[in-house]
Amino acid sequence: MNQNKHHITDVAIIGSGAAGLSLALSLANHCKVTVISKGELTEGSTLYAQGGIAAVFDKKNDSIESHVQDTLDAGGGLCDKTAVQYTASNAHDCLQWLIEQGVPFDMEFDSKGKERFHLTREGGHSHRRILHAADATGRAVQTTLISQVQAHPEITLLEQYNAIDLIGDKKLGQNGKHIHGVYMWNRAAKKVETISAKFVALATGGASKVYLYTSNPDVSSGDGIAMAWRAGCRVANMEFNQFHPTSLYHPELQNFLITEAMRGEGAYLKRPDGTRFMKDFDEREELAPRDIVARAIDFEMKRLGANCVYLDISHKDKDFIIEHFPTIYAKCLSVGLDITKDPIPVVPAAHYTCGGVMTDFNGKTDLDNLYAVGEVAYTGLHGANRMASNSLLECIVFAHAAAKDILAKIQHSPALKVLPMWDESRVTNSDEEVVITHNWHELRLFMWDYVGIVRSTKRLERALHRVELLQQEIRDYYANFRVSNNLLELRNLVQVAELIIRSAMERKESRGLHYTIDYPQLNDNPTPTILTPLAHDELPK
Ligand code: FAD
Ligand code: SIN
Repeated sequence: MNQNKHHITDVAIIGSGAAGLSLALSLANHCKVTVISKGELTEGSTLYAQGGIAAVFDKKNDSIESHVQDTLDAGGGLCDKTAVQYTASNAHDCLQWLIEQGVPFDMEFDSKGKERFHLTREGGHSHRRILHAADATGRAVQTTLISQVQAHPEITLLEQYNAIDLIGDKKLGQNGKHIHGVYMWNRAAKKVETISAKFVALATGGASKVYLYTSNPDVSSGDGIAMAWRAGCRVANMEFNQFHPTSLYHPELQNFLITEAMRGEGAYLKRPDGTRFMKDFDEREELAPRDIVARAIDFEMKRLGANCVYLDISHKDKDFIIEHFPTIYAKCLSVGLDITKDPIPVVPAAHYTCGGVMTDFNGKTDLDNLYAVGEVAYTGLHGANRMASNSLLECIVFAHAAAKDILAKIQHSPALKVLPMWDESRVTNSDEEVVITHNWHELRLFMWDYVGIVRSTKRLERALHRVELLQQEIRDYYANFRVSNNLLELRNLVQVAELIIRSAMERKESRGLHYTIDYPQLNDNPTPTILTPLAHDELPK
């Protein structure tokens, strides 16, 4: 056994995206905070967010009730209305907080020459209510918050540390529901270290990397969901993985999103022959909620045997396009595509995990001092389909709520425990890395083919069978070889895949993002799909 490094903090936050950094900044004037990020601090979905953040700023024409209603409509009858009301009513203050941190949202002048925020529109929103920084809102949010945390004396940043597992009572031979710390893989030193904390918050983002094609960066491997599940937390609504309708289809630029705001500003979806098709599927046409648009594209591609469809904004003024979509314009031009003249080839890609670790409105999970904030969490806000630009909003609203709850409890939290050290006495270096790379690819391929936009019971059964085989193989591998980043992510991805498939098998209807040809109907009185982990003693060793 190695005597590895041990860290101590008040609150350990796993994840440095919008959720983790907002939580850190809301706590750090009152206690010591450590933010752990498995890649570079900037890397995560937040950095790549394009469209913006929803909040009612146009009080004359828009209202919180309307934001609530649009969210409920997009969510396909499965949102928790209280969660939606809570989020929408806190949206303005949270955006104001971001503005105070220095996020440079786009401004414009009204007809009287008064400056105001430019509000854009996306699918499902009945009003213009999305604050944005051109088409790179996430970069503006991420870089602003990073500069704030870097300047804060009470925030310690552990970059290139991959959290492996939560250390709970069970690992200390006790039967409670408390988390005492985290095992982390220090990627530079190639060692496992521990951190003790009074509170732990998961802000690890989503799990869209479980699919072969995704708009997400590599870090979105569902680690927080898998860790929480292994520690004994319930997860909900994992069958609702959102596919963004329009990711660029180009061999040299993978995972590049074309924002929904482009449709909000008038772009058309077209078949390869140049004809529009969205009116055949929904009266809201290009601005129907995402699940409807993604399924329509999937249907047309399969019907026509086409590799992609096209998003066309070339009928708009060139300067308007370049001003509103400078990042997309430059990126596309770098591969020879001039979006002011040419239609953009697009396909759907896995984009957002609507389900996750169950929390209350303070971001608290089933365990006493464990919180989950941001895409990792299931708060009830998104229901069966997340409305565009509600996700960054959820990150900030629930980070603030969690900070308040933690600060109310921190004086009375139990003393830190001595943590058990990581035992490496029975493992060796891997001699067959190909097992990991092969299983990574296999998993993501069958999830795409069998558990994607259109599902069937037979496909789900096939996928579950394969997941069980992979789980056995990965468990053996994990028990015998030293950890690596790819192994840790694969272990988590296969766990999340199982949760998605099992949730999808439980839902005997088609609703929102879950569509199965065996149950095309909508059932009455829908409820969320809640999975409860086996008691620790019942888990396979
Ligand atoms: P992330 O920003 O994904 O951050 C996760 C963090 O967790 C990272 O720091 C990562 O390193 C860390 N992490 C993960 N696992 C571990 C581990 N095991 N150990 C240590 N650290 C770990 N939403 C909107 O509302 N508006 C938009 O316009 C929008 N556009 C989007 C565009 C794209 C291309 C994408 C991919 C998403 C978009 N979304 C948008 C969704 C939104 O960006 C995300 O849901 C949101 O940013 C998630 O924030 P987060 O803080 O929860 O996670
Ligand atoms: C986009 O800009 O289309 C993404 C918005 C979102 O995912 O909320």
